[in-house]
Amino acid sequence: MDIIRGIEARRSVRKFQDKVIPKDIIERILELSTKAPSGKNRQPWKFVILQNNKKDELVNLMRKIASAYKKQNTNIGSYELTINSINEASVLILVFNPYSKIEEDYNYYRLITDTQSIGAAIQTIALVAPNFGLGTLWICDIFYCHNEIMTWLECEDELVAAVAIGYPNEYPHSRPRKLLHEVTEWIY
Ligand SMILES: Cc1cc2nc3c(=O)[nH]c(=O)nc-3n(C[C@H](O)[C@H](O)[C@H](O)COP(=O)(O)O)c2cc1C
Repeated sequence: MDIIRGIEARRSVRKFQDKVIPKDIIERILELSTKAPSGKNRQPWKFVILQNNKKDELVNLMRKIASAYKKQNTNIGSYELTINSINEASVLILVFNPYSKIEEDYNYYRLITDTQSIGAAIQTIALVAPNFGLGTLWICDIFYCHNEIMTWLECEDELVAAVAIGYPNEYPHSRPRKLLHEVTEWIY
């Protein structure tokens, strides 16, 4: 698939078939994602891959937290829909920045540089997955249960995002985009 067609065809997929992705395909996708550029070539990404029981445990944890939020009448936006997508997906990849907690002189500029690099890696996952017949959902709703995930995983790294991957069970239309003139300014 050429890259422009791939970019135009990519969609966030929220419904997945009950079908397992072979490990070598996940590994190939992650290998490709690490070809993304990164500030100072720091490659500030770490991927934790959840499948089967471990993913189910996370879904249960997320559901428990959703009920707690609902009891307090807290608006949780798309959180529950996202949990359903994670539940259906074959794999959930949690993406961490391991540097932010270990470098003593870590600062705001490094954080935004590293976060851009991680974004490039995640976008690469989203763009290459369809080549393997797969769909992806980039997820930040995990921040509704950030602390609980860190405790559950006994993890010190900085959680940046999650990506659900699976064989699509829906082929969504493209979502609207702002017009180019709304998001550009030419300065001569
Ligand atoms: C940083 C980021 C976080 C996102 N978090 C979520 C999420 O938690 N749940 C969800 O359903 N979609 C999430 N999305 C998907 C967006 O809703 C989606 O990209 C947007 O609506 C445009 O649709 P498209 O990806 O199909 O073009 C996220 C996307 C990005 C880039």
